[in-house]
Parts: sequence; structure tokens; C-alpha cells
Amino acid sequence: KTIDDLGDLRGKRVLVRSDFNVPLDGTTITDDGRIRAALPTLNRLLSAGARLVVTAHLGRPKGTPDVKYSLAPVAERLRELLDAPVRLAGDVVGESAHAAVDGLSDGEVVLLENIRFDPRETSKVDEERAELAGELAELADAFVSDGFGVVHRKQASVYDVAQVLPAAAGELVLKEVESLSRATSDPERPYVVVLGGSKVSDKLGVIANLLGKADRLLIGGGMVFTFLAAQGHEVGSSLLEEDQIETVKGYLATAKEKGVEIVLPTDIVAADSFAADAPHAVVSADAIPAGRMGLDIGPESGAAFARAITEAKTVVWNGPMGVFEFKAFEGGTRAVAQGLVDATAAGAFTIVGGGDSAAAVRRLGFDEAGFSHISTGGGASLELLEGKTLPGLAVLES
Ligand code: 3PG
Repeated sequence: KTIDDLGDLRGKRVLVRSDFNVPLDGTTITDDGRIRAALPTLNRLLSAGARLVVTAHLGRPKGTPDVKYSLAPVAERLRELLDAPVRLAGDVVGESAHAAVDGLSDGEVVLLENIRFDPRETSKVDEERAELAGELAELADAFVSDGFGVVHRKQASVYDVAQVLPAAAGELVLKEVESLSRATSDPERPYVVVLGGSKVSDKLGVIANLLGKADRLLIGGGMVFTFLAAQGHEVGSSLLEEDQIETVKGYLATAKEKGVEIVLPTDIVAADSFAADAPHAVVSADAIPAGRMGLDIGPESGAAFARAITEAKTVVWNGPMGVFEFKAFEGGTRAVAQGLVDATAAGAFTIVGGGDSAAAVRRLGFDEAGFSHISTGGGASLELLEGKTLPGLAVLES
């Protein structure tokens, strides 16, 4: 169901679930990509004359108000980005929220405080979540689900409330699902997937699923050392998940059987310690010296990855290749991002998925227009790539 299915929204109170889980440095938002991505839906509803009640989470507070996780910085940024008054309620569904919503006029916005200040939001007990959903529903006449980054969570403001109010998917959710489905259902080939980030264990499902689908899997980031170890190489003091080595060996064997090429780096930037100014050198990936830790893929690998990417017709990239936050270790991530930009220019369909890679792309100064789609989802986009059914999407179909 889409916003069109909700009919005339003038004067109606519309509850919008957004994903405003943005990185913060104190109270400063360091990447506002998720807030900007929410604007098409918010603006569309505002132009339709609706009164917006927006709900979102920030971080993982322990089910109780905690000023560290207040949505105040988000409210501030929304005020700058929206051409409408934005008021932050002092609570989630309490007196302050009711007073703020009662005071709304058409084309105005109330942002409820961090929904995770209420323990029922993430409760595993269905009745508890349903109770919170009922209280949210008292504040609105319709529900628009637009927090793509949380649609994999069976939570009150994502899943349960959609069963109580007339519900529809927002513009961002539609765009995300459409783009990611293009890669998952019938990708134009060659289909290349680039995986990075620190942990193999976060990506097990997605790797298993892609072994039957992708033509090439390029692996970098912290997770690559478990692959190198599985091939019998020394990885020094690099990140290593010993308990995943056997699983990774299985993946390497399956890939061979199915004709999927797993491409690992041939060189690594290895440092003395985990620090921006750590002494470092490029070493061969099969001989990382003892005591050294790999913090990026090397230049030869970066170039090879970029070449493989530009040969593709569909590219999905999830997870940075190295510690891109440190200048000395951003080269691999930069090479991959540039590969995607070149592939897009040559007509390929390219997706940057996962909060970290999306933030990396912006931080490294790439123009967002150089990619076909930059996903706002971390876990959500991975679970879609894994082929899972996401509760926050399934509930909008019925
Ligand atoms: C994310 O950052 O991936 C989403 O906002 C979901 O957050 P969560 O992992 O804390 O549920």
C-alpha cells in the first residue's frame, strides 16, 4: 500500500515512522543522510495538508529516557531542512506528546521523543508492543512507514502500529525496496557484490545467499582476514574471527562448486597499531608480519577491485574496505567508491548499502548522484539481500 491508498489527508493526523538513527558527536550530527532521505515523504504529506506526528529512534537506550539519546539534534536539523514548524514533544506517548499533537495545525510537524525511551517498543512480548502501538494510534488517523533502516525490526512503531491504523509505505521505503529488488530478483550480469566491514559473522546470511546469485564476490574490510586465515595465511594481529574459519572454508568450497569467483585482496596496508598516525606499510596479503594489523586493502587490490566493478552491469557494495576514518587507511574504500562511480557512468546499476559505506562515500567527498542508489539501511538492506521477509514490509502488504 502506498500513500495514495490513504486518500485525502488534509487535516488528518499522520503518524510517520522515520529512521533518524544518525551518527552523533556529542549533540552534533556527523552525517544527516538519513534525515535528508526522509524529506520526500515528509514534504509530500505536508503539501497534502496533513498534520505530521513523526516517530523515530536514536541509538539503543535501555527503555528509559536518557538525554544522551534525545532526538533534540534531529528536531533542530529538521527545522533547517523543512519549510514547516517542527516541535519536539518531551515524551513518547505521554502528556507532552498529546498536548503537542492537539496543538498541531495543517502542515505542521511534531516529532515524538525517542521511541526507544519506552521499553514496550522493542519488547519481545506481543501484548506489550501492541499496547504501545495502541497508544501511538491514539495520536493519529493514519500511518506511513518510511523508516527503511528499521523495517527488519518487529517493533511497535514499525510493525504493530501498522495493524492498528490504515497503513502505507512511504516514498523512501518504496524507493529502497524497488532498488534493492532490482539486484536481488533478476540482476543484469555480470553481478558483482563487494563486501567489507569488520565482521564476517554479521554477513554470514548474505554471503550464503549470494553464493547462488552473484558472479563475483569481492571481499575486503576487517572480515577479509578470516578469509585469508581460512586459506592458511598468517594475518598477524589483524581482526580475526577464529570461530568462523570453518564456515568461511565452506564458503570458499561452495563458491568453487557453483562457479562464483571470490576475489580476495593480494596486498594489505598493515600498521603497527590501530591509530590514525600508526606507522604502516603495504605488505603481501599472504604474508602479514607478526604483530602487524591490516587496516586497509592495498593499492594493487584497490585497483583490481575497481576493475572488476567497472566490468559489471549490477554492483552492490556493503561495508568499507578499511578504516576509512583514518586518512592513511581510506585508499581501498576510495578505490571501490570510484569504481562504482565509473561503473554507473558506464551504465551499470550500482547500490551502496549499509550505513557505514553510505557515510564513507559522503565523507570521502563523492557526489551522491554518482551512484544509482545509496541505501539508508544497514541491517535492513543486508536482510533484503539475504532474501528474508522483513516484518515491517510484510505488514504493509496485508
Ligand atoms: C540502523 O542503524 O541500522 C537502524 O536504525 C536500526 O537500528 P538498530 O540496529 O538499533 O535496530
